[in-house]
Amino acid sequence: MSYKIRRHGVRQVRTAWADGPEFITQCPIRPGGSYTYRFTISGQEGTLWWHAHSSWVRATVYGAIIIRPRKGESFPFAKPNRDSVILLGEWWDANPIDVIREATRTGAAPNVSDAYTINGQPGDLYNCSKKDTVIVPVSSGETNLIRVINAAMNQQLFFTIANHKFTVVGADASYVKPFSTDVLMLGPGQTTDVLIKGDQPPGRYYIAASAYASAQGAPFDNTTTTAILQYNGKNGIASKPIMPTLPAFNDTKTATAFTTSFRSQNKADVPTKIDENLFITASLGVNQCPPKAKPSNCQAPNGTRFTASMNNISFVLPTNFSLLQAHHQGIPGVFTADFPAKPPVTFDYTGNISTSLWQPISRTTVYKLKYGANVQIVLQGTGIFTAENHPIHLHGYDFYVIAEGFGNFNPKTDTAKFNLVDPAQRNTVSLPVNGWAVIRFVANNPGTWIMHCHLDIHIGWGLAMVFLVENGVGDLETLEQPPEDLPAC
Ligand code: C2O
Repeated sequence: MSYKIRRHGVRQVRTAWADGPEFITQCPIRPGGSYTYRFTISGQEGTLWWHAHSSWVRATVYGAIIIRPRKGESFPFAKPNRDSVILLGEWWDANPIDVIREATRTGAAPNVSDAYTINGQPGDLYNCSKKDTVIVPVSSGETNLIRVINAAMNQQLFFTIANHKFTVVGADASYVKPFSTDVLMLGPGQTTDVLIKGDQPPGRYYIAASAYASAQGAPFDNTTTTAILQYNGKNGIASKPIMPTLPAFNDTKTATAFTTSFRSQNKADVPTKIDENLFITASLGVNQCPPKAKPSNCQAPNGTRFTASMNNISFVLPTNFSLLQAHHQGIPGVFTADFPAKPPVTFDYTGNISTSLWQPISRTTVYKLKYGANVQIVLQGTGIFTAENHPIHLHGYDFYVIAEGFGNFNPKTDTAKFNLVDPAQRNTVSLPVNGWAVIRFVANNPGTWIMHCHLDIHIGWGLAMVFLVENGVGDLETLEQPPEDLPAC
């Protein structure tokens, strides 16, 4: 097994070589090989994570990254008594690599998982796992920081704790204006930092997560993972944990109320003069099978194979060089630079879509950005095959989420909804089901940066694109030389 490890969301400038996704910024690290990632984190505080970025290896290879305030500096809230990490994961009663191999062979959707996990343990509601349920301690009167990370492979998750309210203070390693909520919704890739108070009668309270599954009719893992918030002292241990109510799996209203509550803690530095205005659709799709294909390889509906795309291009990874190497060394024939700034055809993205628009083309192509360009992207979900919420993640940057909504983005009326004052900064935006989201960033980090849906099955189907950000002027605006131990293909 070969992997690349990447630090999801780490804002590391000029060191794209240390980003990690296979064939984007490096070739895979071979079995027994090694590669040291060297980078500096700048301007971020809070919670990020790292994970493998090759096939489905990240199902088991992941962990938290915690960035505390510098020595002598403090949180923008009273120092919490305790700091706990909750890593939400997804588990198959099978080797996850076999699960994705089988799906790749058949062209169908992979088997759904058998459990979700909290810090690796599924919890009390599954057979046989009770004795290992994770305990999160709390003492009466304390205020604790809990860092929640969705590291699941393919599922947005609701998260709650019985009888305790959350004060949300951060997301994706940026602080936000505190707001109060009973439930969080995180797409894979997202993190949320919350404060909770030990203000309930001492006892045991379930911490629980279950699916937010927005694709109509699609199968999903409808189990619930639990951990236990346990008050210190005798009362804590004895009592039976209290179970919270989680939202229904299709509760888009609750998901939206949560994702639209984020505001940056301070006045945001949103670019206003836009140099690059892109409109990018995020779609599923199906490919017709070639006449001679075996039916066993065409197991998606009506004898097709599942695919996915951005602006009708299903992204294909190169195989001999990483994009970054090809760019840096000027190796021709690895990629083209003609990713379109808008969809090739305009249609009613969230209406009834003709099946003639369901089949994207497969390409290895990038979109070039000049160093320092102010970029706006309207991300538009579509109903091709089925509409679904997509956690869209951009490498190398934090971006501002300045608006989101349902239906087709309308530039005449929706620009009035843009928040240019205090939008939250994130690295993964929850693109509403059958809706849109608008993000902005300044392209001041040279390199090749992939933007993809963080539902792993969708990346494999091609729901991705790559920005090639050119060097600027002088060393400080230029990609560093590749490290000597950079793996070769
Ligand atoms: Cu969290 Cu491309 O990754």
